[in-house]
Amino acid sequence: MRIDVFTLFPEWFEWFSSQRHVSNALATGSHLEFVNFRDHTPLSGGQVDDTPFGGGAGMVLRVDALDSAMRAHYDLDPVELRARRRVIALAPSGRMLDEALAEELAAEPAITLLCGRYEGFDERIIEHFTTDVVSIGRYVLAGGELAAMVLCDVVLRKLPGALGHERSAVEESYSVALEGAPEYPHYTRPADYRGWRVPDVLLSGNHQAIEDWRRDRSRERGEQAGGAEGSR
Ligand code: 6GU
Repeated sequence: MRIDVFTLFPEWFEWFSSQRHVSNALATGSHLEFVNFRDHTPLSGGQVDDTPFGGGAGMVLRVDALDSAMRAHYDLDPVELRARRRVIALAPSGRMLDEALAEELAAEPAITLLCGRYEGFDERIIEHFTTDVVSIGRYVLAGGELAAMVLCDVVLRKLPGALGHERSAVEESYSVALEGAPEYPHYTRPADYRGWRVPDVLLSGNHQAIEDWRRDRSRERGEQAGGAEGSR
């Protein structure tokens, strides 16, 4: 899979790219590229934002700045680009990122992420250059970079080879294998610590009983959280 990230802070992603599951994904054929759209702006002094028409606080990312950067990177009109791949703006007003969306994106051969700053994007960027707007939660971050990292993290770990144990990505919280419920609780050695004992069933060696117990705990957690959708 190929992910291109347009950001004013490409250096933020250096640490992220060096994380094991990310570098594993990169070693097994995925590509992550970061484009500083300030490098391509047609405006003087590296300008990429401007004051909002109609007044109000903050600055807005300019449509011409994004147009130039995307054109320079793809040698293609961004209006054409979005007919060929998912182009995703990260903004708090977007579709909430969840496992279903992550699965959907992990199946794409290539995606482009646009990280906003300031008050957000000129609406014409959203309207003409993007296919999706995605948010990672109901709160406002200073910019889309952390959200883009969250999205890359959740998508890349779904690709074959990213994790040490393929199984761990199949049967985990909110996965189809667990019917969209949170994951069951895990225990490891010691079996007894300060009198806090690991449930006997897990030490029983009875695989069917263990499987049943895990499914029940997973469902229980799902009900406590207000269903698989969480407490929205
Ligand atoms: Cl994607 N961007 C910003 N700026 N804030 C957010 C967000 C995104 N998702 C939640 N809050």
